Amino acid sequence: MTAGAPALDVDGLSASYGHLRALFDVSFSVDPGAAVALVGANGAGKSTVARVVTGLVPAGAGRVRIGGTDVTGRHAWEIARRGVTHVTEGRSVFSSLTVEENLVLTFRATLGRAGVGAALERSFAAFPRLGERRGQSAGTLSGGEQRMLALARALGSPPKLLVVDELSFGLAPVVVEQVYAALDRVRDEGCALLLVEQHVDRALRLADRVVVLRKGRVVADGPPAELAPKLDELVLGPGPG
Ligand SMILES: Nc1ncnc2c1ncn2[C@@H]1O[C@H](COP(=O)(O)OP(=O)(O)OP(=O)(O)O)[C@@H](O)[C@H]1O
Ligand SMILES: [Mg+2]
Repeated sequence: MTAGAPALDVDGLSASYGHLRALFDVSFSVDPGAAVALVGANGAGKSTVARVVTGLVPAGAGRVRIGGTDVTGRHAWEIARRGVTHVTEGRSVFSSLTVEENLVLTFRATLGRAGVGAALERSFAAFPRLGERRGQSAGTLSGGEQRMLALARALGSPPKLLVVDELSFGLAPVVVEQVYAALDRVRDEGCALLLVEQHVDRALRLADRVVVLRKGRVVADGPPAELAPKLDELVLGPGPG
């Protein structure tokens, strides 16, 4: 960790899937304790940025720095050890285990046996619904409850940088509010956030900055108040004619 360095600094990043180039010269940064919303249309490259940052997809060119340390080319587990947690798209829970078993398994690995009790309490305080369902197998939870569980697992030991991909996709509005309240709290605790979001309006209320991706390139980067009025055009590009 270099004092004063951004929590995340992405510099000139490119990435490809086989012959398909997904990112072109992407640069932006997230200050410690700040929240950046990464927005863009389907296929713009948002999830790819998240995957390169957390080591799931290799960078073709450019650098990724976490707290000032260059982690380009590092394994996902090495990046995770530096305090970076990625809640990926979709339902990342063990469906045959109960809610509580999912949490205990994760917290034992990240916090050790002694830290499990406090982390469980934290989770159930943040998401009372999970407390009510603690004995239920995760596979029988609703989609929204599974996303909540995935987030609770990530927040047991508050990361330095939390990368969340489409966390609120398909969730009922009341659940979206609970999820965002939890994100607000972790940011208050000093965690930096990179939010990939569908619910752009909700993400912009939390974000300090917005980065807009279009066809794999950054087309805007600025404060939400400045970009919100022209966000549709930035996301979709100039219309025909
Ligand atoms: N595993 C993969 N293999 C091949 N191509 C991929 C893969 N994942 C993504 N792509 C392609 O890379 C480009 C960027 O995709 P990405 O998933 O990063 O977009 P996105 O902005 O997250 O979109 P969405 O809003 O639909 O989640 C798209 O053209 C997509 O088809
Ligand atoms: Mg995506």
